[in-house]
Amino acid sequence: MLSVEALEKSFGALQVTNQVSLQVPTGIRHAIIGPNGAGKTTLFNLLTGELRPTAGRIVLDDLDITHLTPDRRARLGLSRSFQRNNLFTGLTVRQNLAMAAIVHERRGRCFWRPLAGLSTIAERTEEIADIVGIADVLERPVRELSYGIQRQIEVGLALATAPKVLLLDEPTSGMSPEESGRIMHLITELPRELAVVIIEHDMHLVFEVADRITVLNYGKVLLDGTPEEVRSSDVVQETYLGGGLD
Ligand SMILES: Nc1ncnc2c1ncn2[C@@H]1O[C@H](COP(=O)(O)OP(=O)(O)OP(=O)(O)O)[C@@H](O)[C@H]1O
Ligand SMILES: [Mg+2]
Repeated sequence: MLSVEALEKSFGALQVTNQVSLQVPTGIRHAIIGPNGAGKTTLFNLLTGELRPTAGRIVLDDLDITHLTPDRRARLGLSRSFQRNNLFTGLTVRQNLAMAAIVHERRGRCFWRPLAGLSTIAERTEEIADIVGIADVLERPVRELSYGIQRQIEVGLALATAPKVLLLDEPTSGMSPEESGRIMHLITELPRELAVVIIEHDMHLVFEVADRITVLNYGKVLLDGTPEEVRSSDVVQETYLGGGLD
């Protein structure tokens, strides 16, 4: 469904993405791992269109999206959550989710048309709140909620745009082990119509959720394989895991 072909990106003389290819079929949980500065977030920025590649192709459902704007890509079903917090903390959870859903609805339409389907927005908001486990805090202002819950809301925001492919950049960063466990469980439970690409540093969590793993190092794919292949790869052990993974 999402196909990345020989993608390249340079910042001046620094090549940050080097011949990166990957295939993300429907329903898969695909993890991107690699040391700090390996080019993981850059890859997401290329996929969403925040950055333009120097070379290569990105194809979503047989459509070449390499040169489309971030907005068009989002409308076609690519959605992301950020490594850093992206919420309106003065608003309630419901307002945050509804806003994301409304913005998505409106993207595809003429702005002068009265907003159709408000009840659909309300239904969608509640459905998403259920999926990401925040139904009991819908009326609370975001700023009153714990960091872990705020990150769950962010996954909800990404879902509110009805994506086909969900890109999650370190959704567990800064979380307690309990909160991380909860968000990972949530990811495994997301609807299977959805493909999820997740950047994650915690290897135990990665091995728990991922069907497939791409290991990046200095912008290159070091290995692309099943969790078992990654776990047993000598080169991954040496380069990334420092031989310390049990
Ligand atoms: N806009 C930019 N201009 C110049 N260099 C950049 C830019 N964005 C990223 N880089 C460089 O590209 C490299 C990859 O950065 P990137 O943020 O993609 O890494 P990452 O794998 O997400 O790291 P982390 O695990 O720390 O989040 C780094 O060396 C970074 O300094
Ligand atoms: Mg990053």
